[in-house]
Amino acid sequence: MASEKLLKELNDQFNFEISSAYYYMGMAAYCSDKNMNGFANFFVAQAKEEYSHAMKFYEFIYDMDGRVRTQAIAEPKNDYNSFLEVFEEALKHEKLVTSKIHKLLEIAEEEKSYPTIQFLQWFVEEQLEEENSMKDIIFNLEGIKDNFQGLYLLDKELGARQ
Ligand SMILES: [Fe+2]
Ligand SMILES: [Fe+2]
Repeated sequence: MASEKLLKELNDQFNFEISSAYYYMGMAAYCSDKNMNGFANFFVAQAKEEYSHAMKFYEFIYDMDGRVRTQAIAEPKNDYNSFLEVFEEALKHEKLVTSKIHKLLEIAEEEKSYPTIQFLQWFVEEQLEEENSMKDIIFNLEGIKDNFQGLYLLDKELGARQ
């Protein structure tokens, strides 16, 4: 069971995951423009992952007898000053997502919507992973600074992400 309020919040999260995909495409586009194809590949993969998160919400809303409504998507940022800034913003964004997942979980708990609580567990874990992977890359970039060799190696590594 899920109340109208909870279904509305789940629908907002569906839209937010779609927005996140588009937000990461803005980052991919910046990296492609700088000829960092591995970095761009990382964000394209990230965007696909966000789309798959949106689809989990989409399916869950129908499982709970709700109805999905698409909403407007804000224009993502297209310009950055450095790759470090890109990843810092990505981390900030993931933290925002985490707070939204936690808020959803609180509402589900208030309503004792056990299927929703269980559904959200996967996202709680996923958010921890996402934040940590961004932190790892930021740590790398802080060490690399403007060292071309270091950037080249990191670009190669991120290019391997499926
Ligand atoms: Fe996500
Ligand atoms: Fe994410």
